[in-house]
Amino acid sequence: MRKWLLTAAVAALFPSALADYGILNDFTTYQNGTMPDGQTYITTNITSPVFNYNTWREDLCISDASSHILLTLNYNNGASAGPYIFRDDDLSLVYANPSFNYAINARIQTVAGELYLTFWHGAQNRGDSQGYCVFYDTHYRLRWNVTTGPPLAVGADMHECEVTADDTVLLTAYQDRAFDLSSIGGREDDILADSCFQEVDLRNGSVVFTWCASDHLSPDLTFWNYTMSSGRGRQQNQDGSGGDTSRKRAYATSSGFDAYHVNSLQKTHEGNYLISLRNLNSIVYVDGKSGMPIWNLNGKLNNFTDVTPPPYLAQSPEDEGPEGAMALGFAWQHDVRFWDDGLTQITLFDNHKLSTSVNCTDSHCSRGLHLRTDTGDPDNLLVQVLRSYRSSQGLKSVVFGSMHPLPYPSDTSSSDLDAFLIGWGVNAEFSEYTSEGELIRDVQYSPLYPGHSVGGRGVQSSRVYKQSWHGYPTWPPTIASNGNGTLWVSWNGATEVHAWAVYDGDDKASLTVVDPFTPYLTMKRAGFETKIELGKDVRSFVKVGALDDQGRITGATEVVKLGYRPLSQSRFGYYVQNVISFIELSKLLV
Ligand SMILES: *[C@@H]1O[C@H](CO)[C@@H](O)[C@H](O)[C@H]1NC(C)=O
Ligand SMILES: *[C@@H]1O[C@H](CO)[C@@H](O)[C@H](O)[C@H]1NC(C)=O
Ligand SMILES: *[C@@H]1O[C@H](CO)[C@@H](O)[C@H](O)[C@H]1NC(C)=O
Ligand SMILES: *[C@@H]1O[C@H](CO)[C@@H](O)[C@H](O)[C@H]1NC(C)=O
Ligand SMILES: *[C@@H]1O[C@H](CO)[C@@H](O)[C@H](O)[C@H]1NC(C)=O
Ligand SMILES: *[C@@H]1O[C@H](CO)[C@@H](O)[C@H](O)[C@H]1NC(C)=O
Ligand SMILES: *[C@@H]1O[C@H](CO)[C@@H](O)[C@H](O)[C@H]1NC(C)=O
Ligand SMILES: *[C@@H]1O[C@H](CO)[C@@H](O)[C@H](O)[C@H]1NC(C)=O
Repeated sequence: MRKWLLTAAVAALFPSALADYGILNDFTTYQNGTMPDGQTYITTNITSPVFNYNTWREDLCISDASSHILLTLNYNNGASAGPYIFRDDDLSLVYANPSFNYAINARIQTVAGELYLTFWHGAQNRGDSQGYCVFYDTHYRLRWNVTTGPPLAVGADMHECEVTADDTVLLTAYQDRAFDLSSIGGREDDILADSCFQEVDLRNGSVVFTWCASDHLSPDLTFWNYTMSSGRGRQQNQDGSGGDTSRKRAYATSSGFDAYHVNSLQKTHEGNYLISLRNLNSIVYVDGKSGMPIWNLNGKLNNFTDVTPPPYLAQSPEDEGPEGAMALGFAWQHDVRFWDDGLTQITLFDNHKLSTSVNCTDSHCSRGLHLRTDTGDPDNLLVQVLRSYRSSQGLKSVVFGSMHPLPYPSDTSSSDLDAFLIGWGVNAEFSEYTSEGELIRDVQYSPLYPGHSVGGRGVQSSRVYKQSWHGYPTWPPTIASNGNGTLWVSWNGATEVHAWAVYDGDDKASLTVVDPFTPYLTMKRAGFETKIELGKDVRSFVKVGALDDQGRITGATEVVKLGYRPLSQSRFGYYVQNVISFIELSKLLV
């Protein structure tokens, strides 16, 4: 009975106080840069985005209590980077681990039936190519940390970490190779940054398969411009700028000419690989045994006929661009996937142009693309656009971008894809559409900076995911006190916090064990961090328990003594307990 009472109370009766900034719905103010760069907190030094939504049809969005949005953010030019998880319903922060130099593509993947938070971390620079794909279990304990191995001489690069149905992982790698590039404006003794990938067995780290593009595809197929890069194999940024001539050349790195630019991988149930080669403007389906291309979709070796029927389901009459640019008009693409067992439905993010802008109105905006292929007749391969999705802001993104169905498919036997989530790459925005093309949610996590190759204020997320997650941290919740009646509490990584219960006592020992049903007060979770005002009648010692939706205590903070610690002694102006650094934490867990 008491339990029932508490449950009802958790759901409805407790007051709540918002410590977080909250989500905005004011494009003009947000876009004109008067808002803070990010949300800061008292219980932690994490910075997270202040979100602004331009559209949000809650009645149409596909979401449940376990739905979360995953971004991978790099703040301060990579000084603090890592995965970020937000509740889908209010976009409040749930988890962040910004302890990496550079991180990318955080998402939930399944290995042997268990869910893991996976992402890549390492040095951002492609030329260094020494990165790791890491797997954290639902308790945020590091389970696997994998990279590429021999015969490759370089580590995994940032572009892909894709689990297969065989509990192996696909990793991309860029490796220099001596190559005659004279046919594309280079030298006979030039250096090619080859695009390779490996399939690595998670159980023992053994390499199952290695593939390098130059063994099967000529660099002549590239659309990447050698003439724009000066000097031997000079690396050039994806937005056409820069290039590092001082880099020490070594075949164990990847500073050569980037003819292919592999950026997504998928292994199919047929045992073959779907590979996105951005600089070939091509998707290649590769035989899992011989490594030979089975077919090429788009690019100079295209094998498909575009049979998109009229009327072409474009959001805009200009969307299809010039003749033949419907299914085969994509360029510089990202995040290419099959979604059905029949291997006929492909989604991708079509960057389309090597520039970043907003208010694009011509046929060259970026778009999410949903294609159907028919490879039943090997002599007559067909492709058509099922739908393309452009942003309501007219976004054009020079790099990055993602697209996947919602809900994130756990069952691939169905060929119905209901809704889609598109991440706009360097433009710090994501959008959800129904499969009929209606925009049902549009959210920014930074103002848009049209000229920038890096998104707003350096914040961008290569991909955006919306997936189911339950997180149960091994560390306790964190409490901060101003010593004068105000507490702040948060629990980084905990997905099941519904309310906070404050317990008080006359000494520390009296709070070792508490009766969960006699809190001093209870307050609903109000964002990542909840602010709690105590009354004058509170006793000298408090601790705060996190309650789940059944009213059960799932974790508790340390005991705080009220009113004795001078404010000047604290790190953030407040006395914070239990801030475990992520560095310390990873030491504890490994
Ligand atoms: C930003 O927009 C808000 C709301 O429209 C406006 O009040 C404010 O003056 C603008 N600030 C700048 C710097 O344009
Ligand atoms: C993964 O392993 C590498 C090499 O040992 C190490 O440098 C890196 O810190 C590890 N990653 C994590 C998250 O522990
Ligand atoms: C690694 O594990 C897989 C699966 O258990 C096994 O097939 C393979 O032989 C192992 N490789 C090595 C080198 O131990
Ligand atoms: C490559 O560079 C040449 C010479 O500057 C230019 O004419 C051409 O448009 C460029 N191609 C691309 C795809 O950027
Ligand atoms: C695809 O096109 C290439 C180049 O024209 C050709 O060599 C190859 O045989 C074609 N493959 C198929 C499956 O049609
Ligand atoms: C985009 O268009 C809107 C509406 O016309 C305008 O207010 C805004 O300034 C434009 N943005 C850019 C970056 O041109
Ligand atoms: C503590 O709170 C009381 C009552 O709200 C207030 O008068 C006092 O100034 C506060 N002291 C500090 C140090 O904030
Ligand atoms: C945040 O705090 C942790 C732990 O004290 C520290 O290691 C890290 O450098 C801090 N990060 C920033 C951006 O201040």
